[in-house]
Amino acid sequence: MTPHDKGGAPHLVGRAALVAQVRGLLDARRSVLLFGPPGIGKSAIVAAVFRPGLAVVDPFEHVSSAVAAKLRRVMEADGIVLAAGRSARAAELGAVRRVLWRMVAVRVGPLSGRDIRALLCEALDADGVPRAAIARSWLSEAALVAEGVPGRAVAVARAVARRWRAGRSVLPPRLALVVERQDGLSQKTEG
Ligand SMILES: Nc1ncnc2c1ncn2[C@@H]1O[C@H](COP(=O)(O)OP(=O)(O)OP(=O)(O)O)[C@@H](O)[C@H]1O
Ligand SMILES: [Mg+2]
Repeated sequence: MTPHDKGGAPHLVGRAALVAQVRGLLDARRSVLLFGPPGIGKSAIVAAVFRPGLAVVDPFEHVSSAVAAKLRRVMEADGIVLAAGRSARAAELGAVRRVLWRMVAVRVGPLSGRDIRALLCEALDADGVPRAAIARSWLSEAALVAEGVPGRAVAVARAVARRWRAGRSVLPPRLALVVERQDGLSQKTEG
């Protein structure tokens, strides 16, 4: 049996060590900047470690001097900031020079192929796609396509599940990722 998630935070695959590291820093009242590429799972980790009283800035990008000044006041008053951005370099973040040095930068890296496969299986299960519909070779290829990025694995699973519910065949992973991107883009432009 697995313990119930607290506070409705999503179940995370392969992030136990990172979550423990970030919780340890927050316990020590350090402010933290999670950084890594899109879809790597920064916001998911923010949700997992969230606690009341924490000042969360997600996404941490194009930071204005007003926001930076506010964060500086929070930190100077012994408050804790948890930020999530695509970079840890001041030049790419905005007006962060006077706050960035106070934060511990924690890189969110790719998941292992095994974790990505587990995530794919969970996502397909949750979407009602029967295990028998998914070939091992499909899972291996999907893990390669996702390249350790959970957001990509979720996107592939979502596209496949949508087609499955519509009574259509399981797409090759590469195609599923393209379809999901395209559908996502057209939804954005329609909406
Ligand atoms: N370890 C994980 N286990 C299960 N699902 C995950 C995990 N990490 C991320 N996800 C899922 O993958 C998707 C992308 O993750 P998330 O939004 O956290 O990425 P991000 O790094 O914040 O991306 P962005 O830079 O675009 O904000 C989400 O649906 C999230 O729930
Ligand atoms: Mg995010």
